[in-house]
Amino acid sequence: MPGPLLDTLKGSTQNVAPVWLMRQAGRYLPEYRELRAEKGGFLELVYDSEAAAEVTVQPIRRFGFDGAILFSDILIVPHAMGQGLEFLAGEGPKLSPTLLETELDSFVHAYERFDPVYETVRLTRAQIADTVTMLGFAGSPWTVATYMIAGEGSKDQGPARLLAYRDPSRMQAICDAIAEVSIEYLRGQIDAGAEAVQLFDSWAGSLAPDEFERWVVAPNAKIVAAIKQSHPDVPVIGFPKGAGAKLPVYARETGVDAVGLDETLDPAWANSVLPDGMPVQGNLDPLLVEAGGDALPKRVETILEAFKGRPHVFNLGHGIGQFTPIEHVEQLLRAVRGE
Ligand code: CP3
Repeated sequence: MPGPLLDTLKGSTQNVAPVWLMRQAGRYLPEYRELRAEKGGFLELVYDSEAAAEVTVQPIRRFGFDGAILFSDILIVPHAMGQGLEFLAGEGPKLSPTLLETELDSFVHAYERFDPVYETVRLTRAQIADTVTMLGFAGSPWTVATYMIAGEGSKDQGPARLLAYRDPSRMQAICDAIAEVSIEYLRGQIDAGAEAVQLFDSWAGSLAPDEFERWVVAPNAKIVAAIKQSHPDVPVIGFPKGAGAKLPVYARETGVDAVGLDETLDPAWANSVLPDGMPVQGNLDPLLVEAGGDALPKRVETILEAFKGRPHVFNLGHGIGQFTPIEHVEQLLRAVRGE
């Protein structure tokens, strides 16, 4: 179904940039905190399709965003591959056993864990307006691998980077396996109603140039090619957070339709190095939304100005923080919409 967000991802420019925010469904919303407390935990929420659809719709109801991003997590893929997954309050995710402790082929896969996620997509699609774009997502193999290897978030992704140097063929097997499962998972989301998908490569920024080619560009290119083969009309957004100067290479070589920009990139620079007409998404600093004040609408204006004439989806450079005041999100939306 067409809508300003989907149209932009397919290459058309709009008078008013469509907008959605990474992590738009989450802890900064009181209605999310309430439902999460009722369900008892994050994973309980994700695997309860009705609750997850409700959480997906909450920010659309409140703010009228142009896109609804499936409420789930990138670590559902390792969970379905058979790795243990827990979210401990205040500590973030824990995966066990880690790929430092065991081999990938010791995991007993549980792909049925994807079924409630597909159901969330179907339930959400039925609740939102036709003009609101349903977004699916997966983590990119490198970013997902950093968690599978370390078992948790790790400083500078050191354990995964070391493994990639010490045993590149093992790292290759891990990234290939994640890519293969992610392709099926994304196809399942699309078949359930996702109209565009985003690949989150949140830790792309920690790799040296050759490593970036091998563990970021190549696996993302493989996923994009597979999606293009089965679902040629579904736009793929790539988000290589921290790519910096490697952004144009990523944009050219992965085959993604649109690129998400983090807040460290100068939008005027990004505009000058990206292929003409390629849609971009971003790139307001989430901490500026948390801070608020006059600098917020000013920065929004700078970003809109830099991407004038190019298909542009307004978004943040990373997920919205849990302590962001709701009024600041409203202020942001007024600035984007010129109200
Ligand atoms: O954007 C959205 O609104 C859709 C849902 C979504 C979540 N996580 C929900 C979530 C998406 C797209 C993600 C992606 C994700 N998850 C990434 C890539 C993007 C990024 O933020 O860099 C990563 C690295 C993860 C892994 C993850 N999930 C971590 C490290 C954590 C703990 C840190 C934290 O913020 O709590 C999570 C938990 C998580 N995923 C929450 C939400 C709403 C918070 C859970 C809660 O306590 O309610």
